[in-house]
Amino acid sequence: MKAVAVQAFGGPEGLAVVDLPDPSPAGGQVLITTEAIGVGGVDVLIRSGALAAYGFEAGHVLGGEIAGTVTAVGDGVDPAWTGQRVWAFAGTGGGYAEQAVVPAATLVALPPDVSPVDAVTLGSSGTVARFALRHARFAPGESVLVRGAAGGIGIVAVQLAARGGAGVIAVTTSSAERGDRLRELGATHVVGRDGGGAGDYDVILDVVAGPDLPAFFGRLNPNGRLVAVGAVAGDPPADFGTALFAAFRKSLSFATFSADTVPAADRRAAVAELLAGDVRAVVHEVLPLEQAAAAHRKLDAGEVFGRIVLTTPEFSGARGTAGA
Ligand SMILES: NC(=O)c1ccc[n+]([C@@H]2O[C@H](COP(=O)([O-])OP(=O)(O)OC[C@H]3O[C@@H](n4cnc5c(N)ncnc54)[C@H](OP(=O)(O)O)[C@@H]3O)[C@@H](O)[C@H]2O)c1
Repeated sequence: MKAVAVQAFGGPEGLAVVDLPDPSPAGGQVLITTEAIGVGGVDVLIRSGALAAYGFEAGHVLGGEIAGTVTAVGDGVDPAWTGQRVWAFAGTGGGYAEQAVVPAATLVALPPDVSPVDAVTLGSSGTVARFALRHARFAPGESVLVRGAAGGIGIVAVQLAARGGAGVIAVTTSSAERGDRLRELGATHVVGRDGGGAGDYDVILDVVAGPDLPAFFGRLNPNGRLVAVGAVAGDPPADFGTALFAAFRKSLSFATFSADTVPAADRRAAVAELLAGDVRAVVHEVLPLEQAAAAHRKLDAGEVFGRIVLTTPEFSGARGTAGA
């Protein structure tokens, strides 16, 4: 089978199309013939070497989120999955491939009218957005800032905040055009990356972190909550702890959130609900698997709004009432 592996950590040129033996599922796993593969921010971090501490080795096949058809099941897995079209989560790798093995515990049946491309656009990012807002104890009527809203997580967070009855939904973005698109999805205020302009918030959902995190934390209303889910701008400054402590006069809360801590059944339920619901999947571009390096170049250039999705020759779109 064809796969895309990191031959050298660093730039996108380190990604190579390779021929690998077809994998086979171990106990608790299934084998999937992939149709669509989501290209995530974490793939970029792994490829760049930023996550070297986690022990990724040359030859690592990227890709955590896939959709396709189950073609074999390992020991202990219900054989009824065989032949089903599914969304699945491969974890930190194995997805940029024509065949992938994934834990059966992650499988969600693909509704017949949902395209695999939309599924991998919404599934993982949407799960993070949904549980992060819950972690922030977001309530109707509250004001929300989504920092780094133009990415997969932020785009869903804006839509969920709107559906959840947020009073104000502010977004940070570097681009006026993206701001307009975020307004179409439910944002009520668009601010620059520095968060400048009026406004304090009850909830901040932050995928950016980096040097400006303390300043954003200071923009919370009394009893406000900031939940950090990503760090596209790197770690916060070393003295962030000082800002946290100084916040006690406003009873502010800082929390981190990782979808890895969500029980598998809750995660499946959230993905299934997202796929069946009306949250819009924003697909930046669909490219063939072989062009994974081009996808990474676009992400590195910061030109992506929503998700880039890779497809294999098996990709055939949705099969439902609108179907093929
Ligand atoms: N917590 C979890 O469970 C979980 C799960 C998956 C991924 N993640 C993490 O989430 C992050 C990726 O999320 P994503 O894919 O939604 O985001 P993303 O697309 O990588 O970035 C979101 C937006 O942040 C803005 N941005 C980029 N660099 C910035 C900078 N230096 N300063 C300020 N803004 C900047 C960009 O928008 P503008 O150019 O419009 O400003 C970008 O579109 C990664 O850190 C990943 O590790 C977390």
